[in-house]
Amino acid sequence: MSVVISKLTEQKQVNGLDFPLLVTPHNTEVKQHKATFLEWVNENKADLHALLIKHGAVLFRDFPVENSIEFEQMLDQTDYQNMPYVGGAAPRAQVTASRIVTANESPASETIPFHHEMAQVPTPPGYIFFYCETAATTGGATSILHSGEICKQFFALAPDFAKKVEEQGVRYIRVMPEMTDNSSAIGRSWKDTFQVNSRQDAEAKMREAGMTWEWLENGDVRTETQVLPGIRFDDETQQKVFFNSIVAVFTGWNDARNEGKKAVSTADGKPMDEAVLNQLVVAMDALCVNFKWQHGDVLWLNNHTVLHARQPFEGDRRILASISYKSPHGLG
Ligand code: FE2
Repeated sequence: MSVVISKLTEQKQVNGLDFPLLVTPHNTEVKQHKATFLEWVNENKADLHALLIKHGAVLFRDFPVENSIEFEQMLDQTDYQNMPYVGGAAPRAQVTASRIVTANESPASETIPFHHEMAQVPTPPGYIFFYCETAATTGGATSILHSGEICKQFFALAPDFAKKVEEQGVRYIRVMPEMTDNSSAIGRSWKDTFQVNSRQDAEAKMREAGMTWEWLENGDVRTETQVLPGIRFDDETQQKVFFNSIVAVFTGWNDARNEGKKAVSTADGKPMDEAVLNQLVVAMDALCVNFKWQHGDVLWLNNHTVLHARQPFEGDRRILASISYKSPHGLG
């Protein structure tokens, strides 16, 4: 495989491996000519995928990816099957006809806490792809964190509570507005969340996802997920991962309709251990890499082994995203 591995100032070593792995062009053809670059992606897609699984995060820098269309063309060279954003909480806009959307458009001043993409749905995406169209002038780093690392910390900090979360699983409770509220990071309306126009169709989607619900007088809906895993075992990399939305929900699901501390519970309905979660947040910040974007960067993440977060920023910032099923056959 013709791949050049380079060094990134902010990268870390996790289990002796670069995190994220930085891949740069191996010749000027690949660096300058879009068609050659696309051919290179196609020819090396299996090896690039193997690097993604090994490292958890792969950053492509200095390749000719100038806009959303070219980002989509890059992904079209791979075997990753596009997955629609059905059931996610974040406000987003569709950018290209098929696979590209904006990353969470919540207000610039807000931190988006660590999460696995759509961990609150029964079949979350396998992989997530980001593209930097415009880097923020100040702040706006995407933070990435190995889920296996934080999982070990969780069991070390609070063995009994961690075991309970692992054995029982968790539920998430969220009130979704009738109309999308862009002032909130979880302001996506139930219509947009489920991509429906009527209550009846929303109910069909919620039933399908194993949720229960209650319609509120103002048109909002209070939803409760089925019991979802708190800790998962990733077969592909043979490790326990902190694959859940506990920290993101507990610390971040605060808006006019929701209170984070009440929005997640263990299966027995008991709240989270606040002291432990606070310690986990500190550990996450210590273990993560705050990755600074440059225009044209493409970042591939294994959504099953790596968490991501967003730092607050100033100025314009436009990061695009795409998600795919884990299986090339689109089965989740
Ligand atoms: Fe995300």
